[in-house]
Amino acid sequence: QTPGAHTALDAAPAQLPVAVIGAGAMGSGIAQVAAQAGHPVVLVDSQDGAADRAVAKLAGTFDTLVSKGRVTREDADATLARITTHTTRDMTTVPPVGLVIEAVVEQIDVKRAIFRQLEEAQAPTTVLATNTSSLSIDAISGEATTGHDAALHGGVSPALAHPGRVLGLHFFNPPALMKLVEVINGAASDPDILAAATDLVRRWGKTPVRCTSTPGFIVNRVARPFYGEAQRMVADGIVDAATVDLALRGAGFRMGPMELTDLIGQDVNYAVGESVWHQTGQDPRYEPTAYQRDLVREGRLGRKSGHGVFRYDDSGTPLDA
Ligand code: NAI
Repeated sequence: QTPGAHTALDAAPAQLPVAVIGAGAMGSGIAQVAAQAGHPVVLVDSQDGAADRAVAKLAGTFDTLVSKGRVTREDADATLARITTHTTRDMTTVPPVGLVIEAVVEQIDVKRAIFRQLEEAQAPTTVLATNTSSLSIDAISGEATTGHDAALHGGVSPALAHPGRVLGLHFFNPPALMKLVEVINGAASDPDILAAATDLVRRWGKTPVRCTSTPGFIVNRVARPFYGEAQRMVADGIVDAATVDLALRGAGFRMGPMELTDLIGQDVNYAVGESVWHQTGQDPRYEPTAYQRDLVREGRLGRKSGHGVFRYDDSGTPLDA
C-alpha cells in the first residue's frame, strides 16, 4: 500500500458524485446515506418509476423525521435535492461519477453485465462497489479462475480491464440505521482504494469492517445457522415461529431469526443461503431449508409482500404480534 495515495474517493463530498444502481430496499437506503453525507447521488433502476417511487418514499420518511425534530427541514430538503433518478437497463447511460454502488438482484450474471457496462462508460478511476450479500467479488469482476467462482462465470465473459477498483461495500438493512458496512476485497482489489473506501464509509457515520471475499463474508456466514436451525425447528413442529423469536430476543438478540428474515425478504435471504451453500461445495452446514423455499414459492416474501412468516399491514407493521 502507498501511504496517502490519492483515489477518487478522497474528494470532498460535493466533488464525489455517487451512482446507486437498484432502487429497492437497499439501494434507496444507500442513496439516502450518501446524499445525507453531502454527495450528489443518481439513483438508477431498470423498472419504470421505481427510482422515483423510492425518492417519494424517502421524502415521506424525511417528513416524519422533521416532524419528530430529528432532522431540520433545510437538511431534509437539501438531502432530497441532491438525489436525481435515472431509469435504464443500459449502464453505459449512467452519468459520470466517482463511485458506483450496485444494489440490484442477487444474480451473478446480472451483476457481471452491469459492471462490464459501467467499465465501458465510466472513467478508469471510478470506484465500482457492489452491495452483494454473498457473491464473490472476483466472480463479479471476472478475476476468478478456480473453483466455483470460475464455474459461475464459465469463462464466457471477459474480466474487467481494471478489476483493482472493484470491491464490496456490504450495507445492512435498513442502511440508514444500521451502522455496519463490510468492506470486502477481491483478489485484485487495490489496497489504496480499500483504505479510502473504509475511510469514506467511516465519514458516513458507519462502522466499517474489513473482510476478504469469502462465501457470505462475516455476518451472512455466521448467521446462516441462526436462520436455518430456527426454520428447521419450526418446520419440524418443535416450536412455533413467534416463540423462537421471543426466545432469541430474550437471549439478547435485537431480532429473532423469523422476523429478521421477514425484514430482509425471504427471497433475498434464500438467494443468499443458496449462494453460500453452493460456494462452499454444498456444505450441509449451510443447506437452505425447504421451509424457506416454500415461503418464497408461495410469494410469502416478508414485510414487503405483506406476508412472510408473519402478516403485516401496509406500513410493514406486524399484525400477529
Ligand atoms: P430489491 O429487490 O428490493 O431491489 C432490487 C432493485 O434492483 C429493484 O428495484 C429492481 O428493479 C432493480 N434491478 C434489478 N435488475 C436491475 C438491472 N439490471 N438494472 C437496474 N436495476 C435493476 O433488493 P434489495 O433487497 O435491495 O437487494 C439488492 C442487493 O443488496 C442484493 O444483491 C442483495 O443481496 C443485497 N443486500 C440485501 C440486503 C437485504 O436485507 N435485503 C442486505 C444487504 C445486501
